[in-house]
Amino acid sequence: MIDPGSSTSQRTSVVGTLRAGDEGARVRLTGWVHRRRNLGGLLFVDLRDRSGLAQVSFGPDWTPAEQMELAESLGAEDVIAIEGEVVKRPDPNPELATGEIEVRAVALERLSKARTPEIPVYRGPEDELPSEELRLKHRALDLRRPELQANLELRHRLVLATRNFLSGKGFLEIETPILTKPTPEGARDYVVPSRVHPGEFYALPQSPQIYKQLLMVSGFDRYFQIARCFRDEDLRADRQPEFTQIDIEASFISVEDVRGWMNGLMNALTTEAGFPDAAPMPAMTWDEAMDRFGSDRPDLRWSLEISDWTEGLGGLDFGILQSAVASGGRIRGLHLVAGATLSRKQIEAIEEAAKAAGAPGLLWAKCTEEGGSGPLARFMEPEDFARIGLAAGDLALVAAGDDRVTGPALDAARTAAIRALDLPMEREHAWLWVSDFPVFDEEDGALHANHHPFVLPHAGALDGLEDDPLSARGHACDLVYNGSEFGSGSLRIHDPELQRRVFRILGLDDKQIERKFGFLLHALGSGAPPHGGIALGVDRIVQRFAGVPSLRDVMAFPKTTAARALMEGAPTRIDDRDLEALQLATRAPTASG
Ligand code: AMO
Repeated sequence: MIDPGSSTSQRTSVVGTLRAGDEGARVRLTGWVHRRRNLGGLLFVDLRDRSGLAQVSFGPDWTPAEQMELAESLGAEDVIAIEGEVVKRPDPNPELATGEIEVRAVALERLSKARTPEIPVYRGPEDELPSEELRLKHRALDLRRPELQANLELRHRLVLATRNFLSGKGFLEIETPILTKPTPEGARDYVVPSRVHPGEFYALPQSPQIYKQLLMVSGFDRYFQIARCFRDEDLRADRQPEFTQIDIEASFISVEDVRGWMNGLMNALTTEAGFPDAAPMPAMTWDEAMDRFGSDRPDLRWSLEISDWTEGLGGLDFGILQSAVASGGRIRGLHLVAGATLSRKQIEAIEEAAKAAGAPGLLWAKCTEEGGSGPLARFMEPEDFARIGLAAGDLALVAAGDDRVTGPALDAARTAAIRALDLPMEREHAWLWVSDFPVFDEEDGALHANHHPFVLPHAGALDGLEDDPLSARGHACDLVYNGSEFGSGSLRIHDPELQRRVFRILGLDDKQIERKFGFLLHALGSGAPPHGGIALGVDRIVQRFAGVPSLRDVMAFPKTTAARALMEGAPTRIDDRDLEALQLATRAPTASG
């Protein structure tokens, strides 16, 4: 029964695989003292290694006196080796995989003495986790926690399944540089000074985007990489400054090819994670997603959609609504069946969420047997409620104006309302492809690439690209799971002239284009195949499949939300001598930091 594959020169097996069938076996085990208990002259140690826990018993009838004494001195997290016999436990522990047996120790060796751990690895059922800050500071200890070990094991299995799947489809794994030139993915670059070229800097890649396109030009028609990416951006719960992508590119393909491969890959990963199949996945265009949900990554575990009530409510004698419609906007809202149970305070909290997403406010009306209540209901007759389909007990949340403002507000209100009403999920796993994204978007009056500047616009958009860039849609799609963007991909521009046009629309002059992207344009002019690809966020996928709240729970050594590594203390100042060698000087921090 004992797995010979887990033996090494220092142990006959790992602890977690021992079972009743091993009764009578003589074993040598190694690991950490998880917990030690004394019971009526006997001593029990829960021995832990990566595979799990097993109970080791020390007793005067089978353990020599000297070893018994050593056992008495064992402390939590000491590293030990024991030898002994596997016996059946008189009182099996059904909570433990090894709970039917224990090992009666006849020999004990302490391989390493542990200081009292700053954070306990053993936790009783009532014990809370220490603060995350403390755990990140002592990450090597925290990583001993079985939950974190299980997360990293899942991560390994998902990455391995990815490699196997893609390799099986003929994709080659190729590494691309880490010391490189800026790649535009919308964040700031982390830069690395060059010592041999003083005053010059490498950038760490925000993604391997340009390199994978160059590999297509070179004829590697199916590429992938488990790629580390670096982005100096404001961190949110679902972002880390350094993270990992499953990065993919292929030649002579359509967006449907990419989706087909990704559906297959997601099925391979869901199988590995013990989830139901991901495909077939529903799909909708970006315009449709924004119209129906106000978001390009709607969480379809709930089907609640935005309703267009421009006609239904446009006739009300209410200035806010009328002026919104007069200036070309729409009146839209959420119809919450049985939502009238929400208190004024709860509705105000939903309104706050909408305001935080940029709306000036949210109107609401409860439909009641007596008529209605709420700020909007004062302007409504029973037939107005009927016209928009509200029945007694329902609640309407309403936003009026430009879709670009009301969309995000109603998206935020949708999430908050689902939570406030505790609406039951209609499905546990909601996959979605969102396609045909805008090529450009606008922020503070300036045009930006919506994804990145390499996305191929639809053929129909090419003629008017310069005149009306914001209405151009591209061959781009996102993979969404339960409201989280898992991946983002597109067909790319392979014509250097079209690529130049897009750069110019983005405000680059020819000199800047040459300096920043000359090498790419040059390569595209050397015979570039039509190509495209996608990148998926490994950390996000593992986080969602592990069902844990933070990306930090699925990364071995993550950074805090302030982009700090607390254990090793990075970033850090460097010695003046090192600065000098780089011909760099730092300025004293200014008052603003
Ligand atoms: P994009 O920037 O959308 O596309 O990134 C692809 C996927 O990477 C993950 N991701 C992140 N995960 C954790 N922390 C971050 N800071 C972070 N940023 C992104 C997300 C996201 O969907 N080169 C293109 C892809 C392509 O067009 O092929 C790119 O990088 O899951």
